[in-house]
Amino acid sequence: MEFDEGELRAYYDDAPDDICLSDIDLTNIPRHVSMIMDGNGRWATERGLARHEGHIAGVDSLREAVTSSVRLGFDVLSAYAFSTENWKRPQQEVDLLMHLFATTLLKELPLFYQENVRLRFLGDITALPEKTREVFEEGLEKTAAHTGMVFALAVNYGSRAELARAARLVAQDVEAGRLKADEVDEDEIEKRLYTSGLPDPELLVRTSGELRLSNYLLWQLAYTEFYVTSKHWPDFSRWDMLRAIRAYQGRDRRFGGVVAS
Ligand code: IPE
Ligand code: IPE
Ligand code: MG
Repeated sequence: MEFDEGELRAYYDDAPDDICLSDIDLTNIPRHVSMIMDGNGRWATERGLARHEGHIAGVDSLREAVTSSVRLGFDVLSAYAFSTENWKRPQQEVDLLMHLFATTLLKELPLFYQENVRLRFLGDITALPEKTREVFEEGLEKTAAHTGMVFALAVNYGSRAELARAARLVAQDVEAGRLKADEVDEDEIEKRLYTSGLPDPELLVRTSGELRLSNYLLWQLAYTEFYVTSKHWPDFSRWDMLRAIRAYQGRDRRFGGVVAS
């Protein structure tokens, strides 16, 4: 996607010592960046605050990530907000998160208009509390005609559940005679994933230092480059997005081929 270079330079003015916009090759920007937004709880605990304060602070980082991604010209930004395993958390934390998703989305809708961002959800949003689901559906409807960046938020998302669902959908089509078993190939699976139609992420960012996927995009991340930072999600800024892209641009992506000489 195109970007406005003047606007981008103004946005990335006042650089810290270790990174600035000129470190980035603007002709080699990833199309799709995905983020595992981890460490809200640790961020809060380190400050003597309750965990939910970390989730609230994390909203500001997400807003900045959306804004910087639009400026940098990504086609897609995706972010893991709530996993199928996160229902195991204390009910109070789950309730707070569901409430926060709904209120934040309502509050941030003007940003999606302003930035021409189209919203999408990854995961089973039908299983969310009614209010949250209603707001999500409203967000989908109201941004459906936007033509800029896609912002895909993974909520009640688990990669194994996604793959089991794709298998179920394939089986239903075979059973109904719409598809033959020997026609089932990678494209037929891809079409039935929540990410259908989106390019695979070139870059995955995980905050808070854990070196694991936590059931996130197992299919889509097959050849994705990983960038893990020890910073907690509420501390992730527009500059960290540049640091991640700089790291990505330093990688030699081979896709199973030979090392370039
Ligand atoms: C990420 O932060 C947000 C969600 C999973 C909803 P955490 O809540 O996992 O924070 P830590 O990992 O416990 O610090
Ligand atoms: C991954 O973080 C899920 C989200 C960021 C939504 P978790 O905090 O749930 O992952 P684990 O438990 O450390 O693997
Ligand atoms: Mg965590």
